[in-house]
Amino acid sequence: MGLSLRHLLLSAFFFICAGQDPGSAAVFTINSIKLEVHPATEVESGTRVTLKCEVDVSQEGSQLLTYQFSFFKDLDLLHSQNTTVPHVTHQLEPARAAHSGEYCCSMKIQSKKKISNTKIVTVSGLQTPVLTLEEKNVVEGEALMATCSAAEESGKLCFTFYANSTEVKRQCSSNNSVQVQLTLEGAGTQYLLCNFQLYLTRMRSNNSNTVKVLVKELPIAPTISIYPSKSIIEGDWLKVQCDVIQVPLSLLSKLNVFLNKGNTILSSGPRNASWETEKALAAKHSGNYMCKSEMDNLQKSISALVDVAELFSQPILTVNPPEVFEGEQFTLACESANVSTERIKKSDIKYNIYKDNEIFSHSTVVAKLSDSGNYACQGVAKTIPKNSSTIALKVKELVSSPLIMVQGAVVLDTPFTIFCRSEKGSFPISYTLLKRRQPKGIYTARSPGEQAAFRVSINTTQEITEFTCEAENNGHQSKKLGLTLNATVIEPLSTPELYAAPELEEGSELNLSCSVKKGSLPITFTWYRDDTLLYSQHTDQRMKIYTVKDVTEDSSYYCEAVNLANERMQSKPQTVRVTFSKWKKVLIGTFVLLAVVAIIAGVLLCRPKQGKKSAKELSTKATSPKPESDSVVVSVVHGGGSYSQVSGDDTKKTVWSESTSDSSSEDQSSEDNADKADLEYAEHVQLQPMASSEAPPKKGTDTVYSEVQNSAKGQSES
Ligand SMILES: *[C@@H]1O[C@H](CO)[C@@H](O)[C@H](O)[C@H]1NC(C)=O
Ligand SMILES: *[C@@H]1O[C@H](CO)[C@@H](O)[C@H](O)[C@H]1NC(C)=O
Ligand SMILES: *[C@@H]1O[C@H](CO)[C@@H](O)[C@H](O)[C@H]1NC(C)=O
Ligand SMILES: *[C@@H]1O[C@H](CO)[C@@H](O)[C@H](O)[C@H]1NC(C)=O
Ligand SMILES: *[C@@H]1O[C@H](CO)[C@@H](O)[C@H](O)[C@H]1NC(C)=O
Ligand SMILES: *[C@@H]1O[C@H](CO)[C@@H](O)[C@H](O)[C@H]1NC(C)=O
Ligand SMILES: *[C@@H]1O[C@H](CO)[C@@H](O)[C@H](O)[C@H]1NC(C)=O
Ligand SMILES: *[C@@H]1O[C@H](CO)[C@@H](O)[C@H](O)[C@H]1NC(C)=O
Ligand SMILES: *[C@@H]1O[C@H](CO)[C@@H](O)[C@H](O)[C@H]1NC(C)=O
Ligand SMILES: *[C@@H]1O[C@H](CO)[C@@H](O)[C@H](O)[C@H]1NC(C)=O
Repeated sequence: MGLSLRHLLLSAFFFICAGQDPGSAAVFTINSIKLEVHPATEVESGTRVTLKCEVDVSQEGSQLLTYQFSFFKDLDLLHSQNTTVPHVTHQLEPARAAHSGEYCCSMKIQSKKKISNTKIVTVSGLQTPVLTLEEKNVVEGEALMATCSAAEESGKLCFTFYANSTEVKRQCSSNNSVQVQLTLEGAGTQYLLCNFQLYLTRMRSNNSNTVKVLVKELPIAPTISIYPSKSIIEGDWLKVQCDVIQVPLSLLSKLNVFLNKGNTILSSGPRNASWETEKALAAKHSGNYMCKSEMDNLQKSISALVDVAELFSQPILTVNPPEVFEGEQFTLACESANVSTERIKKSDIKYNIYKDNEIFSHSTVVAKLSDSGNYACQGVAKTIPKNSSTIALKVKELVSSPLIMVQGAVVLDTPFTIFCRSEKGSFPISYTLLKRRQPKGIYTARSPGEQAAFRVSINTTQEITEFTCEAENNGHQSKKLGLTLNATVIEPLSTPELYAAPELEEGSELNLSCSVKKGSLPITFTWYRDDTLLYSQHTDQRMKIYTVKDVTEDSSYYCEAVNLANERMQSKPQTVRVTFSKWKKVLIGTFVLLAVVAIIAGVLLCRPKQGKKSAKELSTKATSPKPESDSVVVSVVHGGGSYSQVSGDDTKKTVWSESTSDSSSEDQSSEDNADKADLEYAEHVQLQPMASSEAPPKKGTDTVYSEVQNSAKGQSES
């Protein structure tokens, strides 16, 4: 009672927790499931085999459970059953080979399911099939109904029928019996049997019973006749005939006769077939001829071999020599090697040579380029023509005189490339570069794209004309010599030399002569002073002078020369020293002299007053250069007037001054007052200690022309 109470309490608890009605679901658990095979898993065909599926389920209470059982074979559902008992059986009754396989079962209650173990069942042995025929006497080609059955087998079966051990029919079916229509070929006794194969396992049964069938021959076999004989010669008449001799009238409408050669039907008819030719040809008509009669599914045939011998063999065209150059002779010959002398003589064959399908009447030809083409020949005898195979003849072109050229400029002592090329000529062409008739290189060009190229170098201009090319493409006699090479040769320049006076007076011009000993014209000379470009000139001479005006300073000069060889050559630099100009030296000398004279004159005048003076008296008072102006005043007294040019700062003033000019001016002061009526030509000359003025001194016959300049530096150059 205690147990029952506890049980009740537990159940109540369960139902409260599950929130379910106690009547709608049972409490259970599937413990195990098991598949059993009886009497064994390996049995003979025909045995009764039982599959038993059993479960062990624990359950609460005595509620009836529904067990849903399923049996599976090779994973396919075989059978299912609902019961209220925990086991179920399934019979294989009787077991056949088709039942062999893997079995298992499953059981489901509500949503709980369990699958059993697997059992492999092998059923050995197949039933021996039974062959039954509707007729045992048939005529050739007639249909015969045959049934092969294995009544006890199940599953898909493939049945095979044999006649005299040769398979005649095969058919598969899910039934254990098939009925087929057989057509037996070959008259006489024939033994028929069948067997079957299990589609799934490929297992083959034993042969069925053998049934003897008598096949009556159908007299439709054809005959073949060949006229005049199986061995003939080309040009002979040939006839082939097929006949079916004794056809039962009843069958005549169903009969057909064919004459075939290979896949071609030459002739056909209801009862006979024939074909003939007036002129048999060896290639076309030799071979196997077949006569065939056909009635429904029945066919009978016979064949014969016909040999048509050649009247003359295919002619052969020969070209001699096989390769020919223009101007060379070649011959064409056409001949058949074999002739059937029983029918014709060799001379009975007429030959023609064709060039591009047109008759070519010559057999010996001096080749022209236009003779190139496709040649063939044809022999004809007894109106049978035979063509030779075609020969493509290409008359080779002799090489033309080669051209010789260079690319770009040729520079002495620098390698360059000479090209040789002939405009015409068949390849390969062999080019030889000659220098003074001596070979210097050989090149063989094999295609039009190829150019013979030779790398050479020369060191004198004349050498360029020593090169020639020679080309040949057909031995020595085809040699062609080209013209000599004509190309511009550029001689690189020698180092230029600069000539310049090493020393010169300031303000004078400086001739800078730049010259080269060797080198092609034109030349571009460029002069530099202290690395700055002075001037550049393009010229057709090897020597050029550039004149620098008003040289004022010591400088370093050099020149550069370049020609088409494009190598810049530079002279050695040369330094030119600049000295005082001559007139400055003279001026200084004069000035010193006059100063001395003036002092002496002054001394003399201060003592006895000697008044005789000429109208033209040169009176010059030179004041020693003041430190701030460094200037020298020169006064020249003319009879007419005095020209005074004053150059101060940047302005120059030219003044005609009366002799009554302001004598208070210290610069212009003359001690001699008697000369006041005269015009004075005065120049203020400013001298620098290191004179660099380039002003060219212009000296008049009776005037001293001078320019007074401020201490500005000399203009660089004019
Ligand atoms: C067994 O019962 C289930 C559930 O009631 C049903 O679906 C199934 O069809 C039944 N099977 C057979 C073989 O009666
Ligand atoms: C064929 O027949 C022989 C006996 O005649 C038997 O031993 C054998 O098992 C048979 N084969 C099959 C596949 O049934
Ligand atoms: C095969 O069997 C089915 C029924 O089992 C039957 O209706 C049918 O006629 C059979 N076919 C042949 C060719 O025997
Ligand atoms: C079939 O076999 C039998 C016995 O071997 C033979 O006499 C008969 O000529 C054969 N039939 C044919 C059509 O080959
Ligand atoms: C061939 O058959 C035709 C009728 O189809 C007949 O006229 C002819 O005589 C036959 N030839 C021979 C040679 O039997
Ligand atoms: C010529 O005839 C002989 C003998 O019949 C044969 O061997 C040879 O191949 C034939 N030559 C040609 C080119 O047909
Ligand atoms: C044979 O050569 C002739 C002449 O070139 C040509 O007309 C003919 O078509 C050729 N026959 C064959 C079968 O090639
Ligand atoms: C010029 O070149 C030839 C070789 O090509 C050489 O023998 C000769 O000495 C060279 N002459 C000079 C002046 O370099
Ligand atoms: C060389 O070529 C130039 C022009 O390219 C031509 O004036 C000259 O006559 C030619 N000299 C010779 C020898 O062919
Ligand atoms: C400089 O060269 C020119 C000719 O180019 C010439 O007339 C002049 O006398 C030369 N002067 C000197 C100083 O050599």
